[in-house]
Amino acid sequence: MTEGKALTIGDCVHRAARDFDVQGLASPRLDAEVLLAHILKVDRLYLYRNPEEPLTQEVASAFQSLTARRLRGEPVAYLLNRKEFWSLIFEVNEQVLIPRPDTECLVEEVLKVCSDAATGDLRILDLGTGSGAVGVALAWELRHAHVVATDISPGALNVARRNAGRHGVEQRMTFLAGDLFAPLSEKFDIIVSNPPYIRTTAFQALPPGVRGYEPAAALLAGPEGTVFHERIIAGCPEYLNEGGWLFLEIGPEQRQGVEALLAAAAIFEESHFRRDYAGLDRVAAAKRKQASWTR
Ligand SMILES: C[S@@+](CC[C@H](N)C(=O)[O-])C[C@H]1O[C@@H](n2cnc3c(N)ncnc32)[C@H](O)[C@@H]1O
Repeated sequence: MTEGKALTIGDCVHRAARDFDVQGLASPRLDAEVLLAHILKVDRLYLYRNPEEPLTQEVASAFQSLTARRLRGEPVAYLLNRKEFWSLIFEVNEQVLIPRPDTECLVEEVLKVCSDAATGDLRILDLGTGSGAVGVALAWELRHAHVVATDISPGALNVARRNAGRHGVEQRMTFLAGDLFAPLSEKFDIIVSNPPYIRTTAFQALPPGVRGYEPAAALLAGPEGTVFHERIIAGCPEYLNEGGWLFLEIGPEQRQGVEALLAAAAIFEESHFRRDYAGLDRVAAAKRKQASWTR
């Protein structure tokens, strides 16, 4: 730091962006701007309009501490304690997976079969809710739905509960800790899940920011990455209503395995796969058959 002369907004952004670039971070300038804007509680445009503004010592050292964490690989979302998903701001911390844009495809697929115009009591189950991203987005869109959200991690459920409160849907959500269906004793119209689906052998190849900071329990799912898909499909006879829908996020390499699991379950009358915006298979959807005695 220059002795006697306060650093300006422009100096700080420039130096941090240069350090991030040397470290090989993907979006060095953007990261630097987002972190400084966060500390100053301004938008990024403010930084462009006021590059000569001097920073107080307190702001400069807060920025230095965040840039040091970013240089060690910590994701920006954890540094800001928030991430946008479905145009809603979610609190995130190291107890929860950072919601990914691809997961919005899962929400879109559910909304294709559910109408907010329906006034019936639509019961939705979000298995492995994490930050609550999927369940809260669905409760926010479907004002007549009740969403039960489960997670094995009590820490994650605390975050999800706060996110439901933040978006005003907590009265239509229930949060239950436990292993997949274990805390449940009812059937649902919709079961949705973005379960862990990273193959054990693929873990080391994950970006350091994911491997080193995001919860391993939110990622790892056995040798094929389908352990959770298999268990969730196996639970459908007991927990999915006849005529109800199952939606699962998948990795592109899991389509074949999940397709086989859905067929072997022999309770679904139709199934299809949805690609994400990069053109990769991302969501499996399957409709449970009606009881044979219905017309
Ligand atoms: C891939 S993350 C998805 C989080 C969130 N639904 C999202 O889309 O951002 C998977 C979540 O499943 C939870 N989980 C892992 N094993 C579980 C289990 N046996 N039962 C319930 N939840 C589990 C993890 O704690 C994590 O929150």
